[in-house]
Amino acid sequence: MTLQIKSFEEYKEVYKRSVEDPEGFWAEQAATFNWHKKWDKVLEWNFREPKIEWFVGGKLNITENCLDRHLESRGDQVAILFEPNQPDAPVQTYTYKQLHAAVCKTANALKANGIKKGDRVCFYMPMVPELAIGVLACARIGAVHSVVFAGFSAQALADRIKDSSCKMVICSDYNDRGAKHIPVKTVVDEALTMDCDSIETVLVHKNTNGTVDMSDPRCKWWHEEVDSQSPVCEAEVMDAEDMLFILYTSGSTGKPKGVVHTCGGYMVYTSFSFKNVFQYQDGDIYWCTADIGWITGHSYIVYGPLLAGATTVMFEGVPTYPDSGRFWAVCEKHKVNQFYTAPTAIRALMAQGDKWTEGYDLSSIKVLGTVGEPINEEAWEWYNEKIGKGNAPIVDTWWQTETGGIMISGLGAHSPMKPTYAGYPLPGIQPCLLDSDGKLLEGNDVEGLLCIKFPWPSMIRTTYGDHERCRQTYFSAFQDMYFTGDGSRRDKDGMYRIIGRVDDVINVSGHRMGTAEVENAINEHPKVVESAVVGYPHDIKGQGIYAYVITAEPVADEEALRKEILAVVTREIGPIAKPDKIQIVSGLPKTRSGKIMRRILRKVASGDTSNLGDVSTLLNPEVVDEIKDGALAKS
Ligand code: PRX
Repeated sequence: MTLQIKSFEEYKEVYKRSVEDPEGFWAEQAATFNWHKKWDKVLEWNFREPKIEWFVGGKLNITENCLDRHLESRGDQVAILFEPNQPDAPVQTYTYKQLHAAVCKTANALKANGIKKGDRVCFYMPMVPELAIGVLACARIGAVHSVVFAGFSAQALADRIKDSSCKMVICSDYNDRGAKHIPVKTVVDEALTMDCDSIETVLVHKNTNGTVDMSDPRCKWWHEEVDSQSPVCEAEVMDAEDMLFILYTSGSTGKPKGVVHTCGGYMVYTSFSFKNVFQYQDGDIYWCTADIGWITGHSYIVYGPLLAGATTVMFEGVPTYPDSGRFWAVCEKHKVNQFYTAPTAIRALMAQGDKWTEGYDLSSIKVLGTVGEPINEEAWEWYNEKIGKGNAPIVDTWWQTETGGIMISGLGAHSPMKPTYAGYPLPGIQPCLLDSDGKLLEGNDVEGLLCIKFPWPSMIRTTYGDHERCRQTYFSAFQDMYFTGDGSRRDKDGMYRIIGRVDDVINVSGHRMGTAEVENAINEHPKVVESAVVGYPHDIKGQGIYAYVITAEPVADEEALRKEILAVVTREIGPIAKPDKIQIVSGLPKTRSGKIMRRILRKVASGDTSNLGDVSTLLNPEVVDEIKDGALAKS
C-alpha cells in the first residue's frame, strides 16, 4: 500500500526521512507495485549530462499496475466515469475489468497495425474514454504515446508528429464541445499534407457519426480494428527507464520540445503524489477537469488515479455549457469527493456571478485543488467559500510538464493553508531559491529563482531527439540544479509561493506558451517585419498576450491587419495563442547589442507607463515614447 500521510507532524517526519535517505524512501514506495524484476540500484544520477535513472534494472509494465493489479480486489469498481458534453446524454462507465479488456483489445489492434515497442503513436482526440484507453494500450505494448491537445492547429500537430516520427495517429471524427461541433479528422488530414511521411496508419474513432473522408488508404476505423480483437494482451515487459511518453511543451526559445518521461519513476511518483495530495480514500469519486492533452491529464486523470485504484471522472465538455453551473451540476450528480481545476476556470466562473453555484449540493467535496498558474487571493477565497463552503481544504499544486508530478502542495487537510501559497514540498522534493548570480538563498523570508537540487522519480529524462537541449534548458543555468524557470518566495514559515515565470514563457489561461513561438507565428504574415510578444496581467486568463508588431510599409487598415495576424497565429499554433492585443509600432526598443528590451514592453503592456527606467542607453530611445503613446488600453 502506498504511504498516505495523515498529519502535518507525520509529513515533517516523512519529509525528513525522504531527504536524509532518498533511495531508501523511494525504494519503499516502489516496493508497493508489481515488478517483473526488482531494480538493481535505486538511483543513478548527475545533473551535468544530465543522467537520471531510477530503479535501474527494474522491469515492469505500468498498465499491470493500473489495471491487472486491481482486478481481483476491485474488478467491478468503476475506473473511468465519463460525463459527456450533453448533460442529458448517458454517462458511460468502465469498471476496472472492462477497462482492462478495452485496453487489451486496443493494444492488440495497435499490434495488428504494426505498432511495436518503442514506436511513437500520436493522439489528437477530444476528452473521450477512448483517449485514455488508447494511451494505456500504447503503454501495454511498450509504444510511446505523444498526446497533442486537440485545440492545436494542423501545423502544430504536423510539427509534433515529425519531431518524434510517429508511426500512427489516432483521432476522432468530430468533437462536440459546448455548443460547437469541431472537425477533428480534417485537421489531421491537413497535417498529413505537411510531410508527415512517418505516419502509416490513421485510426479514426467514430465519436459523433459525422462525415469524414476515409479515402486515404492509411485511414482505418477504430471500431473495425478494435472490436474484434481478443480482450487478452500480455503486457510488454519494460525497463524502468524505457520511454513511457513524450509530451510537447513550450519553452523560451524555438519550437516546443518533447519532454520524455519513463516508466518506473513516473509510476511511483504519480501514484504517491495522487494519494497524498488529494488524500484519496477507497470509494471516493475524483474529478480533474484538465484535458489529457496536458501533463495534468496524463498524471492526474489517467495514471495517478488508476495506479491508486481510484474512480476518475473524465469530462468531455466545458465549464460554461449549457450554463456556468455545469461543474457544480456534475459534482452534485456524481457526488465528487476531490475536485481539481485551474484558477482560470475559477476566475471565469466567478465572473459569471454566484448564482451559478447556488442550489447545488456540494457536500461530497472533501478536497479542492488548483493547478497551472498562480491563484489570486480573490479567486482562492471564492473557491473556498462558494464551492468548499469553508470545509474543504484547497491544495494549490505547483508543478510542470517536466516534473511529471506535483512538487509543492498541501496534502489534503494535513498541511497549513495560506491563500496564494502552494506551501511545502512533497516528500522527496528538495527545492531551493537562488539569486541571479546562482547564490543559494538560505533561511526564510527570501525570494529568488526556484530550483530543485536533487532528483525525484518522475522528473524529465531528456527532450526527445535532442538531449543537449534538455541540458541547456534545465541544467545549465546553475550547476547541479534543475532550474524551473519560475520565481518564488519562501515566507517566514518556509512555505513557497510561486510568483510566475522569469523567462520568456507566458501562461495564458493555464496554457504555457513561449513568446518566441508566438512571435515566429506572427512573423509568418507577409506584411510583418518583426514582432515582440509579452504577457500582461489579465483578470480572467491570468496573463494575456500583447504583441508589438513592425510592418514593412505603413498600414492603411490596422483592424484588417490585426484580423489577418490572428488568422495566421491560429493557423500556425491554434486559437489559444491568439494575441489579445496587437500594437503596430515603427520600432522596438533595443539595446546597443540588438536585444529587445522586454522589460519596457512588459511595463507598457501592463498599463504602467510611469517609470520605465533609464532608456537613454538604448539604440533607439525615441521609439519608447511612440510605444507609450500608442499603448492599448488595459483590459
Ligand atoms: O509557472 C508555473 C505554472 O505553470 C508552469 C508549468 O506549466 P506546464 O508545464 O504547462 O504545467 C502546468 C500543469 C502542471 C510552471 O512553471 N504553474 C503550475 N502550477 C502552478 C503554477 N504557478 C503557480 N502556482 C501553481 N500552482
